[in-house]
Amino acid sequence: MLRGVVDPELGADIVELGMAKGARVDHDGTVHVTIALTTAGCPLRAQIQRDVRARIGSLPGVTSVHIDWTELTADERSAAMARARWNVREKAPQTAIPATTKVIAVASGKGGVGKSSVTVNLATGLAQRGYVVGVLDADIWGFSVPRMLGIDGRLQGSRAEGDATRIEPNVVAVGAGRLEVVSMGFLVDDESEALMWRGLMLNRAVQHFLEDVAWGELDYLVIDMPPGTGDVQMGLARMLPRAELLVVTTPALAAQKVASRAITMARKSYLRVVGVVENMSAFTCEHGATYPLFGDGGGEALAREAGVPLLGRIPLEPGVAAGGDAGRPVVLGSGPAADAFGEIIDLIVDEAIPPTDLAGCSARLLSAAAAALDD
Ligand SMILES: Nc1ncnc2c1ncn2[C@@H]1O[C@H](COP(=O)(O)OP(=O)(O)O)[C@@H](O)[C@H]1O
Ligand SMILES: [Mg+2]
Repeated sequence: MLRGVVDPELGADIVELGMAKGARVDHDGTVHVTIALTTAGCPLRAQIQRDVRARIGSLPGVTSVHIDWTELTADERSAAMARARWNVREKAPQTAIPATTKVIAVASGKGGVGKSSVTVNLATGLAQRGYVVGVLDADIWGFSVPRMLGIDGRLQGSRAEGDATRIEPNVVAVGAGRLEVVSMGFLVDDESEALMWRGLMLNRAVQHFLEDVAWGELDYLVIDMPPGTGDVQMGLARMLPRAELLVVTTPALAAQKVASRAITMARKSYLRVVGVVENMSAFTCEHGATYPLFGDGGGEALAREAGVPLLGRIPLEPGVAAGGDAGRPVVLGSGPAADAFGEIIDLIVDEAIPPTDLAGCSARLLSAAAAALDD
């Protein structure tokens, strides 16, 4: 789990950097983790603490997480710095996603529950708040992100001098922020052509989108996962272990079983589950009467069973579907569904997955530079 905690400044995970010094599990489910920082006053301490707590705390059976802080010895510190420099110099980054980018994978046990609707509305709402948000449509042959965002146009390649060719994402401005979008829908001419390509390994396509796209300095990357719990989820866990899974389910209690498979699978591959979003919750008509058309309580039950928060409930509302068909996500308008999305986005930004804040790091950089000069 700690491999998913990245030191955003050094660009590597805390296990690789030798900062994870040990872990112990008590019989009552308390987990003690020892983390050694580069310096005791490390400004990233709060963020590392939050990430360690969130990741370990999301495991079943864990009742509390206790962190003991120590400092790396001078030798360990130079090893960690050397490791970070080596990563930068020798090893092409595993993915083109910056270490500071927060990654949210929107998943479910089955199709048709609203993953793509949740993806485009979260991404659009985050951009509206001024963030730069990547959208990776990992539902390779079942893509619906281009239509739902009202974007088309083929992806172009670019070649910076001396560099390999990169795929340029399609970029649209939203409010004070922007979306950078990549989908197989931008590469094939129509959906029947997509069908012809079905045999191609899905995972390879996702890998290309992670490695070969000229993503900018993203604050967030939102990934629309294909339905189910197959190769793509495992591949993502391997390529981007810091991704956090947001699970979408409908309110039907029967849907809960299917959705919990996605959670079980995530835990097997050590992906953190950030929470559950219930979609297609009770419909409220213009007279104020409420109809739980697709059942009741499924999101809450799933969240409780998995020990993760229920981040919110999106009501069933014609505007969600109409917005998807028109390429104008409902979050840009008003109404109960737009409000529900807004609350989930606030929760993500303020608590669940706040953006990386690098302010205050210059002190650490300067001291590292000074130490390097001394060396
Ligand atoms: N809250 C909602 N209210 C009304 N229609 C919705 C809602 N969420 C999704 N839909 C519609 O249901 C269909 C399936 O949603 P989609 O996001 O494509 O699911 P998935 O990506 O999980 O297959 C789409 O037509 C979408 O517009
Ligand atoms: Mg979809």
